Amino acid sequence: MVKAAVLYEAKQPLAIEDLELDDPKSGEVLVKIGAAGICRSDRHFMHGDAVINLPAVLGHEGAGTVESVGPGVTSVRPGDQVILSFVPACGRCKSCIQGHANICDNHMATGPMMYDGTCRLHKGDQRIYHMGKVACFAEYSVVPEAGCVPVSSPIPMDIAAMIGCCVPTGVGAVVYSAKVEPGSTVAVVGCGGVGLNVIMGAKLVNASKIIAVDIRESQLEFAMKFGATHTVNASDRDPVAQVKELTDGRGADYTFEVFGSTDTIKAAYEMCAKSGTVTVVGIAPVGAEAPINAVELVRFEKTLRGTYYGSARSQIDMPTMVDLYLSGKLNLDDLVVRHYTLDQINQAYDDMDQGEVGRGAIMFS
Ligand SMILES: NC(=O)c1ccc[n+]([C@@H]2O[C@H](COP(=O)([O-])OP(=O)(O)OC[C@H]3O[C@@H](n4cnc5c(N)ncnc54)[C@H](O)[C@@H]3O)[C@@H](O)[C@H]2O)c1
Ligand SMILES: [Zn+2]
Ligand SMILES: [Zn+2]
Repeated sequence: MVKAAVLYEAKQPLAIEDLELDDPKSGEVLVKIGAAGICRSDRHFMHGDAVINLPAVLGHEGAGTVESVGPGVTSVRPGDQVILSFVPACGRCKSCIQGHANICDNHMATGPMMYDGTCRLHKGDQRIYHMGKVACFAEYSVVPEAGCVPVSSPIPMDIAAMIGCCVPTGVGAVVYSAKVEPGSTVAVVGCGGVGLNVIMGAKLVNASKIIAVDIRESQLEFAMKFGATHTVNASDRDPVAQVKELTDGRGADYTFEVFGSTDTIKAAYEMCAKSGTVTVVGIAPVGAEAPINAVELVRFEKTLRGTYYGSARSQIDMPTMVDLYLSGKLNLDDLVVRHYTLDQINQAYDDMDQGEVGRGAIMFS
């Protein structure tokens, strides 16, 4: 039996329950979870803004220690610290072969189930789905081998968990997706856990101005710790006008939307300079359509793109993020400011909604 946080129905709190977890099958690994991050992507399922098979154990930003391995597993062994990837790439599909392991076709086709289309979690006869094949809001999880990224020298579990989502998503959006050039100007709309990593990524590549945009003054002050050079409070005055004032009337060369709404996508698009790139990181409610000025897209040669998991390839890019942290280039120590037990998970999400700064993490003993 493992203790886990289960979503039975949208708009209901997560239920903390004991579930049965089957042994890992061929190509799978049993991981004792060490820490799990409080990311807004789980919240979208809880609010009903995103859809997943239910009931499900959520949690996709996690790290832990390998407990045992199923037949055929060769890349990890019991005792290894591993970061969990919520896209355990198959390595064989067209997207993987094209170098886009972050949008693996076979993973997306099987969603919150193992690759064989079954689940390891259940409660009696009721199958329980695994968010992102990770399901780390639980003491233990069975994950595909490809979803385990070994860490060569141990790092704190909460930091390792961050490298499971918000770090590659945010830093990767800058480095791998938008490919921000040194000296360019950057605006980041939404400065929560992921947005702060976009800011760190922009600092890493030597952007000249990094403009943090948020509706909360506390988030903006906190963003300065991570490399923001200017702040814009979107609840005071039109954020597009404010960003233009800070960029000689042109707008920022690279803008990032990191909240997940049509309004913020529109704002990020409008505050982007001529020949600039707008990168959408936030996940808007299912079915949402963002209005953009179609003529500006052409006449101003703007590029509008999305980024999933920061276009990162977990198996090679997560170890890079670990190295960047160990060499002091990513300030992840200041990122995780709140620690909770699994029993406190609903409180952890309420704190996120209330706009508590930085990232929260569930810690397992
Ligand atoms: N693309 C991906 O692969 C990927 C991965 C992880 C998370 N996400 C998505 O990224 C988004 C951010 O996630 P997070 O965990 O950082 O959330 P978060 O709640 O920690 O941060 C969101 C921030 O946006 C701010 N905000 C709210 N309304 C705003 C507005 N109108 N203008 C400016 N700022 C505003 C909030 O104050 C908060 O600081 C979510 O939609 C999440 O699902 C996407
Ligand atoms: Zn996430
Ligand atoms: Zn694939």
